[in-house]
Amino acid sequence: MHVCLLIFPMTLNVNEIRKDFPILERETHNGARVVYLDSTATSQKPVQVIEAMNDYYRRSNANIHRGVHTLAEEATSLYEGARERIAKFINAASPREVIYTRNTTESINLVAYSWARANLKAGDLVILTEMEHHSNLVPWHMLQAERGIELDFIPVTENGLLDLDAYKALLNRTPKLVSFTHMSNVLGTINPAAEIIKLAHAAGAMTLVDGAQSVPHLSVDVQALDADFYAFSAHKMCGPTGIGVLYGKSALLEAMPPFLGGGDMIKEVKLRSFRPNTLPHKFEAGTPAIAEAVGFGAAVDYLTKVGMKDIAAHEHEITEYALERLEEIPGVRLFGPSADKKGGVAAFTLEGVHPHDVAQILDEGGVAVRAGHHCAQPLHEKFGIPATSRASFYLYSTKEEVDLLVKGLYKVKEMFG
Ligand SMILES: Cc1ncc(COP(=O)(O)O)c(C=O)c1O
Repeated sequence: MHVCLLIFPMTLNVNEIRKDFPILERETHNGARVVYLDSTATSQKPVQVIEAMNDYYRRSNANIHRGVHTLAEEATSLYEGARERIAKFINAASPREVIYTRNTTESINLVAYSWARANLKAGDLVILTEMEHHSNLVPWHMLQAERGIELDFIPVTENGLLDLDAYKALLNRTPKLVSFTHMSNVLGTINPAAEIIKLAHAAGAMTLVDGAQSVPHLSVDVQALDADFYAFSAHKMCGPTGIGVLYGKSALLEAMPPFLGGGDMIKEVKLRSFRPNTLPHKFEAGTPAIAEAVGFGAAVDYLTKVGMKDIAAHEHEITEYALERLEEIPGVRLFGPSADKKGGVAAFTLEGVHPHDVAQILDEGGVAVRAGHHCAQPLHEKFGIPATSRASFYLYSTKEEVDLLVKGLYKVKEMFG
């Protein structure tokens, strides 16, 4: 007997989810309901995260690691407990491989200052891509100026994908590091990270993945990807600002010199010398963002409970709809690949109207989009434009909000004739 199992994709109960985000209830300066389409810049925070941080300050606030009193032990266990859950969320082999930083930017700088300065010399090649955020460009420019390393870039094709043939050719030049974004914050392109990493390793290069946009939106498994380093920020994944993560394979992190020096990152200090602490503390100098770590843990719990696969499926549905609707508008030019190759980002220009004017007029109707180069100036240059407007979506976004965006764009067109 054949049993036919029909598996229907679970769609999110967005109405219920939206109740967790109090900010989505508020109005803008002119009484319009907020239509938040700027989650790529930072996500909104659910009450579960806000309350976890509030509770921490109300009940458990103390400095961590150094105290034996009840509050210090409680704060330490909350801080370390969050690290354990974050490690599980990205499937790190151990919480020791999860280093708290301030954000993705600091995580990438940590690799550039510690690993790269210990391992790269003049003439060594670092491969980046043309779609990088400035945070994965400038640290390498700085190292180039200081050390004389070489930089080269995987080109972006007209339809917003990485040119993998060009990448394979670059690998013949035996790079030391390949550092690339898993998902573009402008084009939305989801890059084939596992393949890029496999090819890099075969060529003898290390890999650093900028996961600022991927960890919030996709199920990321750092072990399955075999990434050497992986960077991301809490604030883009329902967590607070001020905290991020650098994941690194423990053998690499063990071999690296510390980044910042001070309290907590040491085992022993003499007047003229010090011994660094074990992982992960070796890279966490000074009093860290404790309440933020608690909030980060709560964010990971929240996303896990909703389900990353369902979040990705929901965003895909919204993005597909948004691209379809935006395409209908005469004068709109969309950037990036089709919905099946991208996350919840729609960057566009509207003929004859500056992106800042677009964003400003949309704001009159409560619709929040971002305008500018989105910290990816070279990418915009590649497409021959100074700026785009960008709408971005998350687990709380709805088709009705996309409709309000489209309605707002018709109003912009009307105003600009
Ligand atoms: C792809 C990408 N990388 C890096 C960053 C930098 O993140 P943060 O500002 O949290 O350091 C961003 C932020 O927008 C991003 O989108």
